[in-house]
Amino acid sequence: MIVLGFESSCDETGVALVDCSGLGVPRLLSHALFSQIDMHQAYGGVVPELASRDHIRRVLPLTQQVLAAAAIPLKDVDVVAYTRGPGLAGALLVGAGAACAMAAALGKPVMGVHHLEGHLLSPFLSADPPVFPFVALLVSGGHTQLMRVDRVGSYELLGESIDDAAGEAFDKSAKLMGLPYPGGPHLAKLAEGGDAAAFKLPRPLLHSGNLDFSFAGLKTAVLTQAKKLGHDLDARKADLAASTQAAIVDVLVKKSMAAMLQTGLTRLVVAGGVGANALLRSELNAACAKRKVRVHYPELHLCTDNGAMIALAAGMRLQAGLETLQGGYTFDVLPRWSLQASSH
Ligand code: KG4
Ligand code: ZN
Repeated sequence: MIVLGFESSCDETGVALVDCSGLGVPRLLSHALFSQIDMHQAYGGVVPELASRDHIRRVLPLTQQVLAAAAIPLKDVDVVAYTRGPGLAGALLVGAGAACAMAAALGKPVMGVHHLEGHLLSPFLSADPPVFPFVALLVSGGHTQLMRVDRVGSYELLGESIDDAAGEAFDKSAKLMGLPYPGGPHLAKLAEGGDAAAFKLPRPLLHSGNLDFSFAGLKTAVLTQAKKLGHDLDARKADLAASTQAAIVDVLVKKSMAAMLQTGLTRLVVAGGVGANALLRSELNAACAKRKVRVHYPELHLCTDNGAMIALAAGMRLQAGLETLQGGYTFDVLPRWSLQASSH
């Protein structure tokens, strides 16, 4: 069964083809991505209306690109999947509308997918795929969650951020330091040349006794520090970046290890854009090795938003018998949608 997947929840248009014949892990046939980062950079963040307008321009050329790359004719597509939420309403509607139009023209079924389920399952496309059950650390621009995952479709929330997400903490701190959007990768790059012990920044909720996170206070502490530095900020920026990154990573690693202890599980899956962070990966690798926990990541290029994870999640849900495919092309999108609400 060939699944064509569309991702358009934020500032990346992603299209992919996945083969989910049989019961093995679905295989990625081809994928293509157009990032709108350059366009939004001038505004310091995502402009929703501009995002929608651009998705609509990209989705068909990207579809032609993935079909050509996989040498698969459009008529061989069996299901069209799209990100139903969460995300920007207008942006989501582009993917949903394009998917439904294409499926209707082909006379094939269409399927809406949860964006976070896509992230969470994305390590199954890596060279070292996980096996169930596992704890998932979901760290994106909009979410920071620890989840117990027993099988496809079974997602139990263990803890989450009560305010900003980890990606937001990276992005907002980076903005305070005058770095371009999206700040995460820029801050990480700058931190390479800095001293992580230079500034003492808070590790909010580190000892809260539960698995919740809070990052809003950290951003305020970075702002206070930046103001205190005044004209010296430029000279100390790398140190401040390194200290900020260390604080975020420290909390993520310690809470993940607490989740392993609490659940008694021995596998950890990391997903979402912040999962691309090199310090997070090396610190998690070290902590997991110490506790005999196996840790799995998505391929680096599939950490941030992409169509492959959406086609994959659709394929895995179909294989697990969680979806009854039907015709009918009325659709809705769910800009706010919790993964637990779609859990079985
Ligand atoms: O998963 P994603 O592409 O989009 C959402 O669903 O939110 O995650 C984007 C987030 C942004 O906040 C971005 O700054 C962050 O992931 N990010 C990083 C890195 N690469 C992306 N943060 C820290 N270090 C990175 N290398
Ligand atoms: Zn995402």
